[in-house]
Amino acid sequence: MKYNSVPDRIPKHIAFIMDGNGRWAQKRLLPRKFGHREGVKTIRKVADICFGLGIECVSLYAFSTENKERPEEEVNALFALMEEYFPKFMGEMLENDVRITVMGDVSYFPERLRAIISEAVEKSKNGKRGVLNFALNYGSRAEIVRAANIAVKSGKQVTEQSFSQLLYTSELPEPDLIVRTGGEYRLSNFMLYQCAYSELCFSQTLWPDFGKKQIMEILNDYAARERRYGKIKQ
Ligand code: IPE
Ligand code: IPE
Ligand code: MG
Repeated sequence: MKYNSVPDRIPKHIAFIMDGNGRWAQKRLLPRKFGHREGVKTIRKVADICFGLGIECVSLYAFSTENKERPEEEVNALFALMEEYFPKFMGEMLENDVRITVMGDVSYFPERLRAIISEAVEKSKNGKRGVLNFALNYGSRAEIVRAANIAVKSGKQVTEQSFSQLLYTSELPEPDLIVRTGGEYRLSNFMLYQCAYSELCFSQTLWPDFGKKQIMEILNDYAARERRYGKIKQ
C-alpha cells in the first residue's frame, strides 16, 4: 500500500530510457518486434499515469542515432509501429490537451512517416496540460555538435544558458528524473548536457512490463532524495 500514495514532490520533467523490449519478446520466444509493439502499450499507459499525476513533461527515448544500425527488418518494424501509433497518440494527446514534440533528426525517416509525425506535432501544438516529447533518431552527441555548429555559424560566443537554447530541448525544463528500464546502468547517449543535475533511477523491469507500480516506487524514491546542486543542506 505504501506506494499507492502520490508523493508531495513530483518531477516537472521525467524522461524514460525505454529499454528491454527485445528481451521481453525473446523471453517468450517471439521476434523482437513483438516486444516493441508491447512497449507501445506501455507508452500509452505511462503517459496517462504521468499526466494524470500532474507531471508536466514526459520524454521518451524511442530511437537512438545508433539504433539505425540494427538489422533492417527491426528498423522497418519500428518505423511501421511509429506510423501506426503516431495518429493514435495524436488523438489521445489532443483529447488530453497535451502537446507532442519530437527531438532528433528525422530527416532520413521515410517521407510518409515524417508527414505523420509532423501532423501530430502541428495539430497538438496548442496543448496546455503537458508535453509528450519523443526522442527519435536522437543522439546527445549529435545534438551537442549540431548546437555547436549553430553557435559557430552565428559567430557569437555561447554561455551555458545560451547554449542550452540551441539544443532540441530549448523549450523544456531540464529533466528532474531520468528513468532507465531493463536493468542496464547507462545513459546510451541520452540528454548528456541536460542531465547535469538530473536524478537517475534504474529499474530492472523490462519496458513492456513497466506500469503504475514501478512508477509509484520511482516517484516515492525521487521524493525522498535531497537535490543539492553542489551546495550544502541549508
Ligand atoms: C528498447 O528496447 C527500444 C529501442 C531501443 C528501440 P530494446 O530493443 O533495446 O530491447 P533490448 O534491450 O534488446 O531488450
Ligand atoms: C537505448 O537503448 C536507446 C533507446 C531506448 C531508444 P539501447 O538498447 O539502444 O542501448 P544500449 O545498446 O543497451 O546501450
Ligand atoms: Mg536495449
